[in-house]
Amino acid sequence: MDKFKNLRGTFDILPAKLIKWQNIENLIKIQLSRSSVKEIRTPILEMTELFTRGIGENTDVVSKEMYTFNDRGNRSCTLRPEGTASVARAVINSSLSAKPQQKLWYMGPMFRYERPQAGRQRQFHQFGVEYIGYESYRSDVEIISLAWDILKKLGINNLNLEINSLGNTDDRFNYQQAFINWLDKNYSYLDEDSQNRVNKNPMRILDTKNSDTIEILKEAPRLIDYLCDESLERYLKIKKQLNFLDIPFIENYRLVRGLDYYTHTAFEITSGSLGSQATVCGGGRYDNLIKNMGGNETPAIGFAIGLERLMILAGEEYENDRLVDIYIVNKGESAENLAIELSRQLRKLNIITELDISGSSFSKQFKKANRLKSKSVIIIGEEEANKKEFLIRLFSDQNQDNKEERISFDNYFELEKWLKINIREDL
Ligand code: HAM
Repeated sequence: MDKFKNLRGTFDILPAKLIKWQNIENLIKIQLSRSSVKEIRTPILEMTELFTRGIGENTDVVSKEMYTFNDRGNRSCTLRPEGTASVARAVINSSLSAKPQQKLWYMGPMFRYERPQAGRQRQFHQFGVEYIGYESYRSDVEIISLAWDILKKLGINNLNLEINSLGNTDDRFNYQQAFINWLDKNYSYLDEDSQNRVNKNPMRILDTKNSDTIEILKEAPRLIDYLCDESLERYLKIKKQLNFLDIPFIENYRLVRGLDYYTHTAFEITSGSLGSQATVCGGGRYDNLIKNMGGNETPAIGFAIGLERLMILAGEEYENDRLVDIYIVNKGESAENLAIELSRQLRKLNIITELDISGSSFSKQFKKANRLKSKSVIIIGEEEANKKEFLIRLFSDQNQDNKEERISFDNYFELEKWLKINIREDL
C-alpha cells in the first residue's frame, strides 16, 4: 500500500528537532514577559472577508496564497495567513476594546500557498507582537528594538534592519499619483510582472526582485519626497532615537511590504545567512486597520518573526535537551511497585525522572541511563525492596569517588537533601 505523504510545504516537527524549537520559544516568552507583553490566542480559521478587507484584495497573500474553502454551512473560511488582522478583530469584538492601550503577542501556525523552498513553507509558524492604541513615535522605536533585541538575545548576528516611511493616507495618495504617471511613461521598460501590477497594486512594483526594473526605478519619484512635514518629522525622530540606541539601520525607499494595511513606519530585518528568503522579521505601523474593520480609531504597530527562519539562524546551543536528573533502575515485582511510587514522588518534587519500565537486565537499564546522560541513578533490586530502601548514585564523569547513599523509602527528607547537594541546587 502507498504510504501517506505530508501535503507539500508542510512538515512534522519530530522530538529531536523540537528541543531547539522549545528552547527558542521559551527564550522569546521570557523576553516578552520582561517587556510586559501579554499573550493572545485567536482561531486559526477565520471568515475569509477578515483577510480580504484587512490585508487588501490585490495583495499577493490574498489574491494568490490563501487556503480558502466553504465550510458545511457554506460560509467562506480561510486558514489564517498572518496574525495581525485576527488580533485586530479580537480587540474590536472583545472587552479589550474598552482599554485604550495593550501590548499583545501570539505564536502559532500560519498558512500561505507559496512555492516551497528553504525557509518558505505552506504551513509555517510566526510569533508576533502588536502594540494596540500606541501612537507616539516612541512605540515604533520600542517595537523595532524589541524585535532587534530578541534576535540578538538568541545570539543571531549578521542582521540588517531596513526601515522606510509610507506616510499617511494623503501622503501615499499624492505619491501614488506621481508614481503612476512615471510608470505610464516608463511602462515598456518594466518587467512583465511589474506591468501587470501597474493597475492592480502599483506600490508593490517598488518591491520587485527584477534587477533591470530595480535599475529603472532609481529614476522614479521617491515616497520620502511626498511625506508631509508631520510624517517626515515623525520619521526623523525614529531615526534619531534608533541612532541613540545604537541600533544600526539602512533606509530602503523601496520597502513597501506586501500587506496593504501599513502607514508610516515599515521595517524588515534580514539576514545574509538565510539565502533567498532573507527576511526573518517584518513589521510596521497600521493606524487605519482597526477603524477600517469597524472599530474605533486606534493607532497600532507590530511585527512578526518567522520561526522556521529563526530555527535556521539560531545556534547549536539551543539544541541541548534538559538532562534527566534521575534514572530509576529496578527489577523484580516488589521493586517495580516501589519504583513507580518513587517516580511519582520525585516528579512532585520537580525532579526530571525517567523510570525504566522495560523489565530488562540491570546492565541494559544502566546502558539506557548512560545514553540519556542521566545525572544520577536510583537502584532498586530485590534486596533493596526487602529492606524498603534504595541506592542513589551520582552517575556522571565527575563521580570519581563513586558518591552514593542508601536511603529508606520513608525518608524523603534525606532524599531531598541529597538531591539538593548533588544535582539540583534550585530545589
Ligand atoms: P510578513 O512579512 O508577511 O508580515 O511575515 C512575517 C515573517 O513571517 C516573515 O518575515 C517570515 O520570516 C515569515 N514568513 C512569511 N511567510 C512565510 C513562509 N511562507 N514560510 C516561512 N516563513 C514565512 C506579517 O505577517 C505581518 N502580520 C507582520 C506584522 C505584524 N505587521 C504588523 N504587525
